[in-house]
Amino acid sequence: MSVELAEIEMVVSAARAVATDVVLLELRAADGSSLPAWAPGAHLDVTVQEGVERQYSLCGDPSDLSRYTVAVLREPDGRGGSLHVHEHIVEGTSLRVRGPLNHFALSLPPASTPLMPHYVFVAGGIGITPILPMVRAVAAAGVSWELHYAGRSLERMPFVDELVASYGSHVSVYTPEAGHRLDLASLSGGSVSKPVAVYCCGPARMLTELESFAASARWPSGTLHLERFEARAVAEPVRHEAFEVELEISGLTVTVPPDRTILEVVEDAGVLVLSSCREGTCGTCETPVVSGEVEHRDSVLTPDEQEANEVMMICVSRAACPRLVLEL
Ligand code: FES
Repeated sequence: MSVELAEIEMVVSAARAVATDVVLLELRAADGSSLPAWAPGAHLDVTVQEGVERQYSLCGDPSDLSRYTVAVLREPDGRGGSLHVHEHIVEGTSLRVRGPLNHFALSLPPASTPLMPHYVFVAGGIGITPILPMVRAVAAAGVSWELHYAGRSLERMPFVDELVASYGSHVSVYTPEAGHRLDLASLSGGSVSKPVAVYCCGPARMLTELESFAASARWPSGTLHLERFEARAVAEPVRHEAFEVELEISGLTVTVPPDRTILEVVEDAGVLVLSSCREGTCGTCETPVVSGEVEHRDSVLTPDEQEANEVMMICVSRAACPRLVLEL
């Protein structure tokens, strides 16, 4: 069974610049109804124009279900989705939206938990969007936290003024013009003598550096949580041969050749699977694994989730064995 997500017809109720090249869109249901609930870290799949879907993190207030808020960075060298948003989407534009979906959920134990973790948030540029509601949630919960926010310049860093004004010394801001560079060694939460939870969203280089730092500093498993906007680099697949995929619910068995994805072959077989990014970053095509060994090539699941082998992203991940059985 694939993930079921609500599809909602929405209207842009406000659009305004919140930083250089960043536009904030406020979206409301076209029929005025209340929207599905979400938690910090969630994103929407937005059809920005016919056949073009993009994922945007929700950055507003989860308790306000009359509207969703997303911020979109103009990326002149991107695939065109953000340019379309900046040039054609205005107040009153209708948009089709799917979600919310959350593969970057903030884990915030109940207030009665004896040893609450210290939270470390790391954001690069537009990567602040999923982090913003997390920061508000931990600040409201009264637990200890710190935010490290890096960008090319203050003008290009959405919400930076609001964050500094609201949270003062919890927030460290890094820009080349100010001569401040983010030092990963300072991210351990200083001398805190309790568990640390690290949440990071930003450019690929920032995430890769943080991952290597976490490995070399031997952070306990489950400490680091990453949200990727771009697919991580992966090596050649471990299997170069075709493999079989049995679709348990549909009763079909398909053969996936080396040059095609499971998603493509399954779609050709007439089985409906939701998908969006088709590059392993959004989580929309997540599919339960019944049996067989998976070579996980996505940028969504944590190492522990990949090891559990319970689900896979069939747009990029492949079999590491001759036959997989999927709940499709
Ligand atoms: S479609 Fe986005 S992860 Fe597969």
